[in-house]
Amino acid sequence: MSFIVAIDGPAAAGKGTVSKAVAAHFGFAHLDTGLLYRVVGRAALASIGPSLDPERVIELSTEVKPEDLERTDLRTAAVAQAASKVAAIPEVRANLVTFQREFANRSGGAVLDGRDIGTVICPDADVKLFVTASTERRAERRFKELEERGEDTSYEGVLADVIARDKRDSERESAPLIAPEDAHLLDTSDMSIAQAVAEAIAIIDAKR
Ligand code: C5P
Repeated sequence: MSFIVAIDGPAAAGKGTVSKAVAAHFGFAHLDTGLLYRVVGRAALASIGPSLDPERVIELSTEVKPEDLERTDLRTAAVAQAASKVAAIPEVRANLVTFQREFANRSGGAVLDGRDIGTVICPDADVKLFVTASTERRAERRFKELEERGEDTSYEGVLADVIARDKRDSERESAPLIAPEDAHLLDTSDMSIAQAVAEAIAIIDAKR
């Protein structure tokens, strides 16, 4: 039997951390769907350059392989921006749907996190969470993360990036970032990781 947990929310809200912890707790598989768009964004930057010609980006989105998600160069700020640009192309999104749905419907349970899991990919998910936090808290967290990885960056730059990505993700026509009506809202602005994870687990436990 499949059991699907859909976790959506804006960049750096804590979705990834919560998703990983929830998947480990329940023994479910986990897919960070942002990585799919990052794989396409990275490949586009490398082979097309910053112009990101849509025809060629669409072609690249048909070539994504599961092992590409293991690449170690997907977490840079440049790839994040490219990912959010390629993610606005409807054909790119369409080409990535089957992979995500097959992953979700595996037996044993799955956690998928992204922007449109509860709205488009798995509208019938057993549990939907919308994980969010204030823009400043998210920028602070992302800044720390990039700094720890040795990226040359500033808080102001990261804040501007988060704002630009939020705007692009929520205003695009194809599968914009919105909280599904039937989602549980988890605002992590003033929560520790442990608190956010405990709350997510309690919500899921109540549905099992
Ligand atoms: O979650 P992450 O920051 O890795 O996502 C990178 C970009 O991929 C996001 O800014 C968003 O534009 C896009 N994305 C998406 N739909 C998803 C997951 C990510 O459009 N389900």
